[in-house]
Amino acid sequence: MKVTVVSRSGREIIKGGLDLNDGATVTDLHEAIYRRTKKYYPSRQRLTLPVQSGTKEKPVVLNSRKNVQDYCGGNSDNLTVVFKDLGPQVSYRILFFWEYLGPLIIYPIFYFFPVYQYFGYKVERVIHPVQTYALYYWCFHYFKRIMETFFVHRFSHATSPLANVFRNCAYYWTFGSYIAYYMNHPLYTPVSDLQMKIGFGFGLICQVANFYCHLLLRNLRRPEGSGGYQIPSGFLFNIVTCANYTTEIYQWLGFNIATQTFAGYVFLVVAAFIMTNWALAKHRRLKKLFDGKEGRLKYPRRWVILPPFL
Ligand SMILES: NC(=O)c1ccc[n+]([C@@H]2O[C@H](COP(=O)([O-])OP(=O)(O)OC[C@H]3O[C@@H](n4cnc5c(N)ncnc54)[C@H](OP(=O)(O)O)[C@@H]3O)[C@@H](O)[C@H]2O)c1
Repeated sequence: MKVTVVSRSGREIIKGGLDLNDGATVTDLHEAIYRRTKKYYPSRQRLTLPVQSGTKEKPVVLNSRKNVQDYCGGNSDNLTVVFKDLGPQVSYRILFFWEYLGPLIIYPIFYFFPVYQYFGYKVERVIHPVQTYALYYWCFHYFKRIMETFFVHRFSHATSPLANVFRNCAYYWTFGSYIAYYMNHPLYTPVSDLQMKIGFGFGLICQVANFYCHLLLRNLRRPEGSGGYQIPSGFLFNIVTCANYTTEIYQWLGFNIATQTFAGYVFLVVAAFIMTNWALAKHRRLKKLFDGKEGRLKYPRRWVILPPFL
């Protein structure tokens, strides 16, 4: 069969098109494009069916597991696909690793090294117990996230655009530096011993709960990440769709109760805002996938992220 590959403007990407076997899969098509272009490896390619100009419908993305023939319609032996270059890609594990490594390294630098001299503070630095516990708490959190990235999460998407590494690192590394600066500052004033214990105690419970939520999510997929999206259930997932985000937000609340910095609360608000938007989208997706029609399961009534508000 003959496949013509065009750009979104209609320009032919591969002169003369590609000849594929009748049983070729979309994965074979991706490989064939890579062999001819030498530049666009499969995860860089997005292939869709052409849409009529003027229509508002979304283009159909070719599914790697299907046969190319399935998209031909009727018994035609010709297919035109629209190619989009997604740009350089990195694996999700690499993306997450770099974004979490920054805070894990930056925070201890502010604790262990005499950086404040360079900001004009000549006074002797007295380290309060809460600052030491905050260091342990912070490092445990980001170390846990890196371990979960490699050994717990089963990602459905293989790669992410390289540009996201810079965007996400800017977010995590900047907030890491901002909070570390104020937490380890020579003029830092600690909260009461009781408040510190309540904050860290509550935060640690939430970190353990967050880890357990990630284990429950992991068990929704097969080891290679296939299985699509399922209805999460068990533990807090019986009440709230994104229980992992709920526990993440609460564990930062615990950290802030114990440490009381403006920087920490800013991070809490920004992170909660981002996760709330993601949670709304995930909740919508699950309700759409499990609509209770044509034999499909019906998504149960649940809070989205922060019961009893949302
Ligand atoms: N502080 C912050 O600013 C912040 C922001 C975001 C996240 N986090 C932390 O990082 C953790 C991971 O974040 P994330 O956004 O990657 O979490 P996520 O999308 O909720 O899920 C984690 C893993 O579970 C999979 N998964 C989620 N729902 C599923 C379902 N219904 N069926 C099957 N698999 C499902 C995801 O698959 P896919 O690969 O398909 O997505 C992903 O591999 C969070 O839980 C949170 O603790 C912190």
